[in-house]
Amino acid sequence: MTAANRRPKILAARLLPPNVEARLARDFAATSNPDDVIWSADELVARAAGHDGMVVASSEKMTAEVIGRLPESVRIIATFSVGYEHIDVAAAARRGIVVTNTPDVLTDATADIAMLCMLGAARRAWEGERLLREGRWDRWATTMLLGVHVTGKRLGIFGMGRIGRAVAQRARGFSMEIHYHNRSRLPADEELGATYHADPEALLPVSDFLSINSPSTPQTRKFLDARRIALLPDGAVVVNTARGDIVDDTALIAALRSGKVAAAGLDVFDGEPRLDPGYLELENAMLLPHIGSATHETRDAMGYCCLDNLDAFFAGRPCPNALG
Ligand code: DGY
Repeated sequence: MTAANRRPKILAARLLPPNVEARLARDFAATSNPDDVIWSADELVARAAGHDGMVVASSEKMTAEVIGRLPESVRIIATFSVGYEHIDVAAAARRGIVVTNTPDVLTDATADIAMLCMLGAARRAWEGERLLREGRWDRWATTMLLGVHVTGKRLGIFGMGRIGRAVAQRARGFSMEIHYHNRSRLPADEELGATYHADPEALLPVSDFLSINSPSTPQTRKFLDARRIALLPDGAVVVNTARGDIVDDTALIAALRSGKVAAAGLDVFDGEPRLDPGYLELENAMLLPHIGSATHETRDAMGYCCLDNLDAFFAGRPCPNALG
């Protein structure tokens, strides 16, 4: 094979689902990471040598500094995620590197997990599960594991993008009254009767349940701090399936301890996979290890989305999910 028609060399920084690895190996000269080691920035840069493109995930912190050290050969970075706060897209653009993400394909799976967190936290699912597994359930009782009623309550959605709208769609099935904050108001045919709050702080007093569905940006980081938690109704339930750094952990843990927040369902954590140990001591926090998009179908679709972008790029077509 000549240099002109050689297959592009792609470095996959994380192990991908088997179907995706198979297609990557079929269509590209792929270097994969079979042991799924999380490489240091230095190692990532060294391993990128001689590659034309990279597949990364949120574990790879593609800062301006790291991007500046990538070999000249790298011309595209496809992230296996919809979120891209781990990539300095502007720095990549300055180097002429295209960055792509995986929107749409994980909307339903993530909205499903938001509902799981909402129901699980409100109805104390993991406490019940633990009671059984620890052999402590000895009778049915009228006051055992009483939780927060979901049906008919007000749901505040912070961030009404694709995932927020999919959460709203599911919550309507529970007769919830939908309120939302978003940078811009949705058209009526997407709002579907939901009440828009231009001021994010106006959303909080009407949120019996608060679902965080916004990206992590300088504007949303630490949005849910102690002052704003105080604006929630007493006994609210907080759900976060977006990014951990949107919540001030110290403030939420204090509110869960005091009962100001009755329960929280959290799939994401600031600094994950480490999390504030205060959460682990709380019975009223249902904690999941960032599995919002973790279904076979969705993870395959995310991988195929990365590969569709690589295919387009190396065929000289516009990438369907180019950022920036
Ligand atoms: C995403 O796609 O952003 C998920 O949160 C996984 O990182």
